[in-house]
Amino acid sequence: MTLQVEQAAAAGPAAGVATGSAAAQRSPAARWPRLDALAYGADYNPEQWPEEVWAEDVALMHEAGVNLISLGIFSWALLEPEPGRFEFGWLDRVLGLLHEAGIAVDLATPTASTPAWFLAQYPHVRPVTSEGVVLGGSARQTYCPHAPEYRAASRQIAEQLAMRYAAHPAVVMWHVHNEYGSPTAECYCPVSAAAFRDWLRARYGSLDALNAAWTTSFWGQQYSAWEQIDAPRRAPMADVNPTHRLDFQRFTSESLLELYTAERDVIRAHTTAAGRAEVPITTNLQLINCKSLDFWAWSAQTDVAANDHYLSAERPDNHIELALCADFTRSVGGGGPWLLMEHSTSAVSWQPRNLAKRPGEMRRNSLAHVARGADGALFFQWRASRGGGEKFHSAMVPHGGTGSRIWREVVGLGADLAALRPVQCSTTVAEAALLWDWESWWALGHTFRPSVDLDFKERQLAYYEALWRAHVSADFAHPSADLSRYRMVVVPQMYLCREEWAENLRQYVRGGGTLVVSYFSGIVDEDDSVYLGGYPGALRDLLGVLVEEFLPLRADWTVRLAGQLEEPYPGTATVWAEDIELRGAEAVLTYADGPAEGKPAVTRHAFGNGHAWYVSTRPDAETLREILRLAAADADVTFDTETPDTLELVRRKASDETSYLFAINHGQQEAAVAASGVDMLTGEAFIGSVHIPAGSVRVVREA
Ligand code: GAL
Repeated sequence: MTLQVEQAAAAGPAAGVATGSAAAQRSPAARWPRLDALAYGADYNPEQWPEEVWAEDVALMHEAGVNLISLGIFSWALLEPEPGRFEFGWLDRVLGLLHEAGIAVDLATPTASTPAWFLAQYPHVRPVTSEGVVLGGSARQTYCPHAPEYRAASRQIAEQLAMRYAAHPAVVMWHVHNEYGSPTAECYCPVSAAAFRDWLRARYGSLDALNAAWTTSFWGQQYSAWEQIDAPRRAPMADVNPTHRLDFQRFTSESLLELYTAERDVIRAHTTAAGRAEVPITTNLQLINCKSLDFWAWSAQTDVAANDHYLSAERPDNHIELALCADFTRSVGGGGPWLLMEHSTSAVSWQPRNLAKRPGEMRRNSLAHVARGADGALFFQWRASRGGGEKFHSAMVPHGGTGSRIWREVVGLGADLAALRPVQCSTTVAEAALLWDWESWWALGHTFRPSVDLDFKERQLAYYEALWRAHVSADFAHPSADLSRYRMVVVPQMYLCREEWAENLRQYVRGGGTLVVSYFSGIVDEDDSVYLGGYPGALRDLLGVLVEEFLPLRADWTVRLAGQLEEPYPGTATVWAEDIELRGAEAVLTYADGPAEGKPAVTRHAFGNGHAWYVSTRPDAETLREILRLAAADADVTFDTETPDTLELVRRKASDETSYLFAINHGQQEAAVAASGVDMLTGEAFIGSVHIPAGSVRVVREA
């Protein structure tokens, strides 16, 4: 198989329907690596092995069905062994070997791992924490994002690579850096503080505007000169001015994005000069696990949405969090196909207890990503390292070699992905959306909040899980996105709510949508200043309630709920309660005891042609499910709790309306679903009912 780069704009996947404001800006001629199948492969680090091993690697890649390799991710020290001297011979040879074998390359810039000589030459480029600790270099991600020396050197190595390989036929995609923001994001050195001041000047124009936005009248923090403003480093109090901190988070996300776009632009200049402007350029992100980057803004700058996902090994039902990440990646990518850039064949090596995947689990995981729109599945890494920090991390070729279960499953997965080739470019369809934005996540995380139990991600997962278990497919959307195509929109947490977002939600519900909002949302504006007149200020009229006071609960407090649910519901709630007055809404559930006894707990407000629900507490999982069942009935969304919640069901639809049903059985018992068609993985035909053996996966091309 020879993989040639062609006009991707003509043959690439449909751009899909944008969900987020940023995603909506994606070019309609989306770039995609020219592969003639779903992508399958890994990060390849040949420099860790003698050259004799490379030929064996390529032969084994063939055996496994690998067609895409990410190369050179941490190779800066080898590619530029001393300042300005470049050595590409070894990379030429690896690229040549792969190309001869028909294996395409996603060529990386190595700028996540600064060479030792660089840090020795520019010691001040090492990042500084908020406590003033200067971080050392014997790892990766050791750089200050604002240091001119880092910016120049990273652009230079990217340019050298682009000049040399822009026209190389094996290179079908460019992989800039590695996981921006994980872990290096914020830097508090003097250079960063100066860059922050420049950013603030551009944002506010005047100190008066900054003083007002930051409410510096509190604690006498007024600034009378720009030079007085520092990075929000560790202060004697538990936290600094929250708006100061929030702006630093905005600034950090934008600064790192500048690093990415600088490398991307220099690569694009060379691919364009080589007549290959269609070759996609992207970066692998750790969506939802990297709090420091606003991925809605980032996704507008990447050609392919690419995510690295690792299971939280000890988390029960961790395949649900996997599904959330996959749905999120599809959503930030605008709804079209995306790429799973890294996951693991079995255990990772960086969690407290690195549980190994059990037989069949890798297959279920990989195919779950594909079910949710990934047009490929890549791993970290190809061959397990002998030494170094990640030697106990699983790989496609484990330490035990090819006589192993992992290798057999790797070869099996390659065959599965080859059989699924026709699903390329089809998209996953969702009727519901959850809103997720970074500003709210950042702002909620500051100190001096009414309860330490307010947790953005925890609520997102809880609501997502309730929908997942009821087989409701969901997208994620930015609060400013056009929501009109969703029947139901859920807001698990939106502490910070810009006025235009509130208006967007009003318009959505007025138009007939069903909205479900969880507590402590709509409280502050973009400056982290409270909306006056009663909570939840920005959403009060839409929800038809008025909250006079928050009534957070003690850690061990469980309150009972009462009201319009069938026995044995409603159950209990924890963490939070509120003193709610109805202002147009009806009470669906009330607090049966606790500090808000007798007050509404869950409300429903008819607004325009739709309904706005408010959940003012953290109900137990079953009660939350029942509340969402009621809201789904308003929305006319099928809420299926008859089919076991160990069976993951997702459909991808092609532009010609062909439907692919992914049925992934995470349970211990055989399961069945009403459907007809042919299992693309086994060739078996089903009429009326498809049975899925325990732990197995079927992908049914529906009749
Ligand atoms: C990722 C990273 C890889 C590798 C992997 C291990 O976050 O991009 O280089 O370290 O984790 O799980």
